[in-house]
Amino acid sequence: MNDNIQYEPAPWSEQRQVPRIREPKDITQVRTAVDAVSGWLFPEEVDFLYNTARERAPFGAIVELGSFRGKSTVALASGIIASGAGTTVTAVDTFEGSANLEGLGLDTFGEFRANVESAGVADVVRPLRALTGDAARSFDAPISMLFVDADHSYEGVSADFRNWFPKLMPNAVIAFHDSTWEGVERLLHESVYGHLRDVRRHETICAARCAPARLGDQLRAWRDDPLRGKNTIRPLLRRIPAPIKRLVKH
Ligand SMILES: C[S@@+](CC[C@H](N)C(=O)[O-])C[C@H]1O[C@@H](n2cnc3c(N)ncnc32)[C@H](O)[C@@H]1O
Repeated sequence: MNDNIQYEPAPWSEQRQVPRIREPKDITQVRTAVDAVSGWLFPEEVDFLYNTARERAPFGAIVELGSFRGKSTVALASGIIASGAGTTVTAVDTFEGSANLEGLGLDTFGEFRANVESAGVADVVRPLRALTGDAARSFDAPISMLFVDADHSYEGVSADFRNWFPKLMPNAVIAFHDSTWEGVERLLHESVYGHLRDVRRHETICAARCAPARLGDQLRAWRDDPLRGKNTIRPLLRRIPAPIKRLVKH
């Protein structure tokens, strides 16, 4: 992974032997398998990915940008199998394990394949070894769920949003991992909060429906978008003269 960036939000788990998921409808088996794959996901995030893939798979393709060793891929793929839909998760990654592509000499493709095979979900996983921007040019199936977890810089995540958003079906779910990272937070502020419907947080995942925001979404954006507070309310509060602030405090 990118060693220039502090990777603090989700807990790191070490790689262990990944047990086979014999009953994909049993979320406890899915959790155990996902837990054995090294990577970063909170338990609530695993449940969100699994449940959303299960709900959305009957409607169209599922795409993941940034797969690393396959932790989130196993959660998404299990949801697809549990849904009974004949779709796949397209896992787009250079498999070089570097968010800024400087190249750390890592190659996670072998581990990725071993993990999805060991979990028993390889049949519904379609790895696409490419830059996310290049993959977008050749991908034309309607997408029912997009999980964005590749380059977390503002430029990277914005390009992913620009390139992939037009491929989403109406009401598709778009979900961003590490939503508290500066670049991701800025993109969410500009294009998701107050723009899309039903924006929700699941630990560090921020997810929304691909439909225009309604009044309730606009109001929730004031409460939930951290940059609205920073950019509007806080500067306004700073402009209140000090004597009035002191008066209010007493
Ligand atoms: C945060 S990791 C993904 C973690 C994974 N979702 C998991 O559950 O463990 C980011 C991944 O994105 C890939 N990546 C970063 N920028 C990319 C780009 N522009 N195109 C393709 N892959 C990229 C890296 O190789 C890395 O494996």
